Formats: sequence, C-alpha cells, structure tokens
Amino acid sequence: MDALEAILRRRSIRRYQDRPVEEEKIGRILLAAVHAPSAGDVRCWRFIVVRNRDKKEAIYRAALRQPQVLQAPVLVVVAADLEAIRRAYGRRGVNLYSIQDAAAATENMLIAATSLGLGTCWIGAFSEGEVSKIVGLPPQVRPLAIVTIGYPAETPTKKVVRPEDHCFSEVYGRRYEFSQRASSRTHQHS
Ligand SMILES: Cc1cc2nc3c(=O)[nH]c(=O)nc-3n(C[C@H](O)[C@H](O)[C@H](O)COP(=O)(O)O)c2cc1C
Repeated sequence: MDALEAILRRRSIRRYQDRPVEEEKIGRILLAAVHAPSAGDVRCWRFIVVRNRDKKEAIYRAALRQPQVLQAPVLVVVAADLEAIRRAYGRRGVNLYSIQDAAAATENMLIAATSLGLGTCWIGAFSEGEVSKIVGLPPQVRPLAIVTIGYPAETPTKKVVRPEDHCFSEVYGRRYEFSQRASSRTHQHS
C-alpha cells in the first residue's frame, strides 16, 4: 500500500478484535512517528507504549471511559518535552511547535498502522493530569494525544469528503479547481 492509499483508507476505528498486535508492527509504527518533521529537528515528542491491562483501565477512566481505549490491545501516549522545545524556541515552541510536532508524529503513526492492516483512533479527550500520573511523565512533559491500536472489528461507513469546501486558489475563498484525475474514485478508496 503506498502512502497516498494509506492516507485515503485510514478511518478512526473504535472496535477491535481480541487479537494481539505484533511487537514488530508497534516498532514500525514508532519508527514512522520518529521520522515525522519537527520544528528545528528538536524532536520534542515522546511516546509511551501501554499494553498493561491495569494501566489501560486507568487511562480509559481518564479518557471519558471511551470504550475503544479499553478494547484496543495497545495504546500509545504521545507527549512533548516542553523544556526541550522551550530552549530552542521559547513561548512559540511551547505553545505551538510542541503541538504541531506531536500532531505530525501522531498522523504518521495512524498512516503507518493503516498500511500494516491495523486500525487506530486518535484520542484527544482525556485528563492530562491523570494520564501524566499513570504513565509517569515528568512535569515538563505534556501528554497531547493517545493513539489506540488494534486489528479492526468494524468497517466504518463510507466517508463523504468535499475537498472543494476547504481548498482555495491564490486567495481565501477562491475555489481551487481539482483536476478530474485528482478527485476521481480510483484515488479516493473511500
Ligand atoms: C485532535 C483530535 C482529537 C480527537 N479526539 C478523539 C476522541 O477523544 N475520541 C474519538 O473517538 N475520536 C477522536 N478523534 C477522531 C475524530 O473524531 C475523527 O478523526 C473524525 O471524526 C474523522 O473521522 P475519521 O478519522 O474516520 O476520518 C480525534 C481526532 C483529532 C484529530
């Protein structure tokens, strides 16, 4: 599966098979994460892999009891070392680049997981304080996302995307004209 195909195929998966995920695949996903672009190449992201049932249960409670958090065999807490990015970029680093870096790495993980036949869900709704305690983050490391990973037990309904609603040419509001080929079904996989 090439990169574009994985991007277009990826959907949030919230039901998982009771089937373990191979350590090698988790390693590939983490490799994709640390190959993401990062501001100044500081690589302030940190990733904590969680498989332990008690820890997963605690994270589930800290994440509004979203069932997929408990069901997924593997969770990855994506965090950023704010001190590392502050040293390089001050407030802009802390307030913006840390989040952008973590988001780029998170998306890489989702795409890599899709290409390996796995399902994922990006979890943003959780208590940062509680998750920090559960996985032992030091004070300067902020948890920014949780990724659930497992073999999918659902096929989400077809996603309707209207690229023309979001994309402009030259100035905001002037429609970008997609070529027929770019938006054709063969490229959409949805
Ligand atoms: C920043 C962010 C936070 C999100 N938080 C959650 C979440 O807490 N729970 C959840 O089920 N999905 C969460 N999602 C997934 C979105 O709901 C999902 O990406 C969106 O509905 C589009 O569906 P798709 O991923 O299948 O394309 C989050 C996505 C992003 C980017």
